[in-house]
Amino acid sequence: MTSAEKVEKLLKQREKAQEGGGLDRIEKQHALGKLTARERIELLLDEGSFEEFDMFVSHRCTNFGIDSRHFPGDGVVTGYGTIDGRLVYVFSHDFTVFGGSLSETFAEKVIKIMEMAAENGAPVIGLNDSGGARIQEGIESLAGYGEIFLRNVVYSGVIPQISVIMGPCAGGAVYSPAITDFTIMVENTSYMFVTGPKVVKTVTGEDVTVDQLGGAHIHATRSGVASLTCKTEQDALLFVRKLVSYIPQNNMEDPIAVTPTDPPDRMEDWLDDFIPDNPNKPYEMRKIISAVVDGGEFLEIQRMFAPNIIVGFARMNGRSVGIVANQPSFLAGVLDIDASVKGARFVRFCDAFNIPVVTFVDVPGFMPGTKQEYGGIIRNGAKLLYAFAEATVPKVTIIVRKAYGGAYDVMSSKHLRADVNYAWPSAEIAVMGPEGAVEIIFSKELEKAQSPADRKKELVEEYKEHFANPFTAAERGYVDDVIVPSTTRFRVIRALEMLSGKRRFMPSKKHGNIPL
Ligand code: HXC
Repeated sequence: MTSAEKVEKLLKQREKAQEGGGLDRIEKQHALGKLTARERIELLLDEGSFEEFDMFVSHRCTNFGIDSRHFPGDGVVTGYGTIDGRLVYVFSHDFTVFGGSLSETFAEKVIKIMEMAAENGAPVIGLNDSGGARIQEGIESLAGYGEIFLRNVVYSGVIPQISVIMGPCAGGAVYSPAITDFTIMVENTSYMFVTGPKVVKTVTGEDVTVDQLGGAHIHATRSGVASLTCKTEQDALLFVRKLVSYIPQNNMEDPIAVTPTDPPDRMEDWLDDFIPDNPNKPYEMRKIISAVVDGGEFLEIQRMFAPNIIVGFARMNGRSVGIVANQPSFLAGVLDIDASVKGARFVRFCDAFNIPVVTFVDVPGFMPGTKQEYGGIIRNGAKLLYAFAEATVPKVTIIVRKAYGGAYDVMSSKHLRADVNYAWPSAEIAVMGPEGAVEIIFSKELEKAQSPADRKKELVEEYKEHFANPFTAAERGYVDDVIVPSTTRFRVIRALEMLSGKRRFMPSKKHGNIPL
């Protein structure tokens, strides 16, 4: 064979490999409203930037006649490319080959790019669409999963890991996305569960559909597994591109700064009059966030899960920040189990990847009741406290209204080594709200009072005057300044710039023991 003939043969082989499990299966994939593994990669990466590895890898299994069926690539497309010019590594399950099921060689391909990503300090993005362990391979497949899980764990906090679920993800296979930093699900076509509806029916007798059990909506609202859901695959891939722009390549680097287009000293006069006079009246915390961050742009994570706390990414004068904020318009912004876990995981991501945390506080306390106590609000609430306390990135906190009880301490207070703590004049910082406090400390006096209601009113006023303000905390230096709300953007940007060289480390240890 001449050289030219060899090249021609190679081109044909490459063309064939692009077809995955065959044109009929590609058609089936399209008919389901799903893209192929390679089409997804093309949408995710900068045009023409993808370099594929291991296109000709094939499985080594001989069980159940599978040795007569070989497809180049063996069910996963792997390689590297760029997003906005920045290096990322990608693996993309090819459902057209044995349902994207994971074989020994499939796992080796994924592991190869995970290791390269760690060595070269760049994010790994996994596009998941798989029937799980390749049944014909048995233990080899399970071993492959185990090797991937191990690397998910070892590289956690070293390089960002992002999962997009674009089809089935079932059984133990769910644990790889679960360990990654973000899991994005596509509505209607993706699902995740440990055991499917049939097993559920056999074991518990419950009748449940795939969607009810593990669809995108359930994971976005109930389980908290999904960081975000998107209507289409295209939207999900665009979201990943955006997310990557806020985060650094690895734990040794800072996120890239963009040229700021929003003046740092932009004043928002309406903020001075924004907090309702009635302390029990809700308001939309996102309005404050949008007013303060660059261009009002806020990339919210887990928006539909535990809406009483808000987390997400924004920029302040061109630099990435993580925002954590109580949401008074949902359950009065109270901290419950889900909110604590959501906040904690986000803060830990920011801390691992050098992203400063800006916290807006309006919290009436922790959620009372047996449901929360039995569910473990003690150990779960402690997660948020732990996450803020161990975070050594710059931390700036603004108490806009309530900061009551343990929740005051937890929400990035000075005592947990937040660096700069501001309060608005509307701040109320105390052990508990006026009504409850007066009922406890003046119970005997109120019993004896001629008109208990009037006396209570007087005492509540007295209490409010004493505690429902930021000045007692300011007198002790627990808030660094009481600021004019309209100047918040400017003050926070200045604080972050002052903190940009911050170096603070936790004492050397193997690892802490966060209450899980
Ligand atoms: C081998 C598989 C496969 C698997 C699908 N296929 N799953 N081959 N191992 N796990 C093959 C099918 O045989 C079929 O091949 C092709 O992929 C497409 O599958 P269909 O069933 O035709 O597609 P669809 O109707 O869309 O159903 C998709 C599906 C279903 C829901 C994923 O295939 C399914 O239930 N598969 C089994 C899922 C499962 O139980 N996996 C093990 C989970 S436990 P042909 O040649 O006909 O096109 C697990 C443990 C992980 O993964 C442990 C980690 C520690």
